[in-house]
Amino acid sequence: MIFNLGSINADYFYDLPRLVGPGETLSATAMTTGLGGKGANQSVAAALAGAEVCHIGAVGPDGDWAREALRGFSVDVRHVRQSDVPTAHAIVMLDRHGENQIVIFPGANLDQTPDAIAKALVNGQPGDWLMLQNETSHQVDAAKLAQAHDMKIAYSAAPFEVEAVQAMLLYANLLIMNAVEAQQYEDETGEGLTKLPIDHLLITRGKDGADWHDLRAGKTTLVPAFSVDTIDTTGAGDTFAGYVIAGLSKGLAVEQALGQASAAAAISTTKKGTADAIPDLDTVLEFLSAQDANGALDPHS
Ligand code: RIB
Repeated sequence: MIFNLGSINADYFYDLPRLVGPGETLSATAMTTGLGGKGANQSVAAALAGAEVCHIGAVGPDGDWAREALRGFSVDVRHVRQSDVPTAHAIVMLDRHGENQIVIFPGANLDQTPDAIAKALVNGQPGDWLMLQNETSHQVDAAKLAQAHDMKIAYSAAPFEVEAVQAMLLYANLLIMNAVEAQQYEDETGEGLTKLPIDHLLITRGKDGADWHDLRAGKTTLVPAFSVDTIDTTGAGDTFAGYVIAGLSKGLAVEQALGQASAAAAISTTKKGTADAIPDLDTVLEFLSAQDANGALDPHS
């Protein structure tokens, strides 16, 4: 079982000829909306990967559609509370190469309550996972409770904030970062990430694949990225994180969970949108068999 204290955003996508510079005004060529938020995307990915997922979060009076959208992906939304604060949203600006810039209005994501989190996590069992990111409030409260229930904790350091990462080091079993966040951590602390006092570190590197570090055993597993026609990278990291935790929670070997996560992330970049671009497990398995037939690389140590 996976519990996920995570953000729920309305994503507003603006297609632009290029990303906006300082002081510049640009006209969008298209605008679309959909379910997003790093937390919601991770929950959707984990559920589509076949895991049982309970999302813990908050939406505003305007957020019923978001709760229903999550439910539509088979995510348990009984612990998505109704807040008086408006539902969060994100302005996602996309260029022609699929690169993005994102501005977030945090809204109800910062209106979590320790009580509501405790009510959800009271059902946590040893071996269950708690996923956390940086777009909500009360991550440390949730981590403490999960640790008390002997659950495993996966923390995505996104959006990056060095103090938030440091606060989570006492609790996280798995720290997930992209290459930019990993560099920011090392620059701001002067500490090497592989020296951190945690069990596992996952660094996703976009088209350069990902590396999984078992820091206790001193072992690194590299997973290549798959080559696809990318049109939108938004949410690819969330897809990777959701799939990898789903795989581990279902008892897959790390290499297999990483392979599925890398495939799911690649496929998600071939479609526009965030939650709506995440593939289900059948699609991922079909993609992997086709890659296998073409001799694509397996994860290796
Ligand atoms: O990681 C992508 C997500 O970041 C988007 O869905 C947006 O809502 C922001 O949270």
